[in-house]
Amino acid sequence: MFLGRKTSRIDARGPAPHSLLGAREVLFAVLLAIAAALCNAASPPRQSAPATAPTFYKNVLPILQQHCQSCHRAGEIAPMPLVTYAQTRRFAVQIKHNVTERVMPPWFADPCCGHFSNDPSLTAQEISTLAAWVDAGAPAGNPRDAPPPRHWATGWLIPKPDDIITMPAPVSLPATGDVEYTYEIVPTHFTKDKWVQLSEIRPSSRANVHHAVVYVRPPNSKWLAHAPIGVPFTASTLTDPQDQRDAKWTDADILLVYAPGSSPDNWPAGMAKFIPAGSDLVFQMHYITKRRAATDQASIGLVFAKQPPVQRVLTLQLTNDWFVIPPNDPDYRAEVHGTIPNDCLLLSFFPHMHLRGKQFEYNIIHPSGTPSGTMHDTVETLLRVHYNFYWQLSYRLAQPLFLKAGTELQAVGWFDNSKNNPHNPDSTVAVRWGDQTYDEMLVGFFDVAVPANIDKQHFFIRPSRVHGR
Ligand code: HEC
Repeated sequence: MFLGRKTSRIDARGPAPHSLLGAREVLFAVLLAIAAALCNAASPPRQSAPATAPTFYKNVLPILQQHCQSCHRAGEIAPMPLVTYAQTRRFAVQIKHNVTERVMPPWFADPCCGHFSNDPSLTAQEISTLAAWVDAGAPAGNPRDAPPPRHWATGWLIPKPDDIITMPAPVSLPATGDVEYTYEIVPTHFTKDKWVQLSEIRPSSRANVHHAVVYVRPPNSKWLAHAPIGVPFTASTLTDPQDQRDAKWTDADILLVYAPGSSPDNWPAGMAKFIPAGSDLVFQMHYITKRRAATDQASIGLVFAKQPPVQRVLTLQLTNDWFVIPPNDPDYRAEVHGTIPNDCLLLSFFPHMHLRGKQFEYNIIHPSGTPSGTMHDTVETLLRVHYNFYWQLSYRLAQPLFLKAGTELQAVGWFDNSKNNPHNPDSTVAVRWGDQTYDEMLVGFFDVAVPANIDKQHFFIRPSRVHGR
């Protein structure tokens, strides 16, 4: 959509021929004035623009660089770049609408609960700057006021990776129909243990990827023991029954989860994810078809920690796979809870549901009879997300939260299986857990930091005094 409204406004501050200018300068100035008038013909109406109206170069561009260009630049997920004046000006009206409605930048945490370090939301001041710029006719201002352009490593949101591991064989995707979860096992050939500070998954055909999980398979692991290496496979192409079960469920360590709009991992200093020497990475890809045959060959970029960290990051999950959502239920609630087996530091959340997902919460349940003296369990909400299937984000706590062994953590999901849910593929059926998006899921991934020498198996060895529920 273009700025389409006509206006008779003439920019009083536009260039005017001056008697001291030579003929060429006059011609140039006239051309500029004509160009300015043509531009203004496409401007929104400008009523009493204040003398100090914000300009693109001085006031708008810094906001775009900081809050928008990670997605709104060439090759990224947003439909148009917001880098140059011309690119941005065309979308001025939509920009004002989307930022005042808080549709952009995308963020779904309810302000009720928690503070998150990756919250990209604009401040009220930034929103009013953008709105005032649009109301003033989206003036360019002086290019010399512009901040230096922001540099992005090409192709990656993370700084230049130390290593890029790509699925050796591309996966062919049909034009229509469901695609079974597709796996590819890729040897790292790491001869030393590696600590990963930042990581990012890049599908080659982003539109076809619903989500991806990259697991770490250490050298002694029996997971998918007979599955082929370096070629795509699915549970039903495997012949060994244990392998088939392994393709449905694993407790292998997760390196990174990707979904559209999700951001790369970037662990705080002193914390990192661990890949033992000789490990394989296992890509689990959930592909969707897009009415055209396609191929995908995903990569993961890794930036290693400069020195060995003090703490290891583990990705854990709270999963409920036993719920049944009745047909036409607009507000079905399902939950799952578990006790934290050992002390840890809670870092971040990644809620996952499918098309009927509506709201998701992570809570701590404080039991009655605790020092707070209350008679009933009390619920402390750490994160409440107004769930949007097309935007699966991670939410990183601004202040990591210490969880004592025995803390009860709960994940709650609400589903809308009514026909009022515009994403609902079928409101007339009961819905259960399943891989495909017309099935449902309730998975609350969360990341914790533990001492660097503790792995997932050890973390789940509960001290005998702690009574797990
Ligand atoms: C995380 C990635 C991301 C960030 C950050 C982001 N956008 Fe977007 N934006 C998108 C995507 C993707 C779309 C396409 C529509 C959709 O999927 O919601 C979009 C759509 C838009 C549209 C609508 C375009 C149209 O055709 O009407 C506008 C305007 C917009 N964004 C402005 C902004 C502004 C301004 C910022 C920063 C303040 C911003 N966006 C930050 C990803 C992003």
